Amino acid sequence: MKKILVTTAAIALAGACSATAFAGGPVDEQLVIDGEIEMTTRTAPPEGHPLDELISGWHYRTKETRELEADTFENPAMLYVEQGEEIWNTVEGTEGKSCASCHGDASESMAGVGAHYPKWDAEAGRPINIELQINKCREERMGAEPYAFDKGGQKPLTAYIKHQSLGEPMSIDLAEGDMQSWWERGKEMYYTRTGQLNLSCANCHEDHNGEYIRADHLSQGQVNGFPTYRLKQASLVSLHNRFRGCIRDTRAEYPAAFSDELMALEVYVTWRGTGLSVETPAVRQ
Ligand code: HEC
Ligand code: HEC
Repeated sequence: MKKILVTTAAIALAGACSATAFAGGPVDEQLVIDGEIEMTTRTAPPEGHPLDELISGWHYRTKETRELEADTFENPAMLYVEQGEEIWNTVEGTEGKSCASCHGDASESMAGVGAHYPKWDAEAGRPINIELQINKCREERMGAEPYAFDKGGQKPLTAYIKHQSLGEPMSIDLAEGDMQSWWERGKEMYYTRTGQLNLSCANCHEDHNGEYIRADHLSQGQVNGFPTYRLKQASLVSLHNRFRGCIRDTRAEYPAAFSDELMALEVYVTWRGTGLSVETPAVRQ
C-alpha cells in the first residue's frame, strides 16, 4: 500500500516537473515598491550556500500578483499592517501599557529590527522569532496574555514590525549563543525526506525551483516576504503556517508552530535568503 502511494507521488511530481519544460524560470524584472523603494530580490548567496543565486518568490509569481505587491495601495495585506499599527498603540494588560508606551514610534524604534530575526534569546536558551518576541513583551512587560499561534494580534503585529524593515536585506547572527547548532538542525530537516511522498524541502525548492508542480510555479521557498498575503486564502499567512502547509503537502505529520523543529527550520531557511530584501507583506499565490 505504502509503496504504491510513494510511486504514485513520484510520478505525480515527475509529471508536474516535466510539464514545465516550456514554463520558463523566474522573470527578469525589478521590484520597486511605489516607484521608490528598490528591492533586492536577486542576490549572491553567502559562503557555503548550495544555490548560485538567491531569488525572491516575487519573481515566480504572475504579472498581476507582482503588481499587487509593487503598489502599497493595491497590496491587500496593507490592511493587516494598519491593524498592526492600531494594536501597537492599544493599551492592554495589567501594567496599563501599549507597545508604543515603551517603544514609541515604530518607524524609528523598529526600523531594521525584523530583518535580523530569528535572534538568540539567552534567557530562553533558544532562538526566537518576532512572534515570540511580541509574546515575551506582552507577558513580561505588559502583564498581558501571550497570543496563541496565528491568533489575536499576532499576524498583524508581526507584519507591522517586519514592514518597518521593508527593503532592508535579511541577515541573522549565527555567532550568537548556540545559533550554529540550530542552523545545523534546520539544515538537516531541510534535506530530510518525509511523508508518504518522501520529499524534502530541497527536493522541491532547491532541485526543482522554476518548474511547475500542478498549477504552482515552484520558487526557492524564501521567507523574506512573511507574513505573506496569499490570494488563494485571501488572508495573511504566517511563516510557521506556511512551513506546516508544505510539510503537510508531503503527507507527513507536521510539528507544532514555534516548536524547536520549526524554529530551527526558520533559522536555516532565513539564512538561505541572506541579503534578500524584507518584502513584508509580500503577495503570493
Ligand atoms: C514596559 C516596556 C515594554 C513594552 C510595553 C513593550 N516592550 Fe518590547 N521591549 C522592551 C524591552 C526592555 C526590550 C529589550 C529587551 C527584551 O528583548 O526583552 C524590548 C524588545 C522588543 C523587541 C526586540 C527589539 C530588537 O531590537 O530585537 C520587539 C520586536 C518588541 N520589544 C516589540 C514589542 C511589542 C510588539 C510590544 C507590544 C505588544 C512591546 N514590545 C511592548 C520593553 C517593552
Ligand atoms: C512538494 C513540493 C514542496 C515541498 C516538499 C516543500 N514545498 Fe514549500 N512550497 C511549495 C509550493 C508549490 C509553494 C508555493 C509556490 C512557491 O513559492 O514555491 C511553496 C512555498 C513555500 C514558501 C513560500 C515562498 C514565498 O515566496 O512566499 C516557503 C517559505 C516554503 N515553501 C518553505 C518550505 C520548506 C521549509 C519546506 C520543507 C519543510 C518546503 N517548503 C517543502 C512546494 C513544496
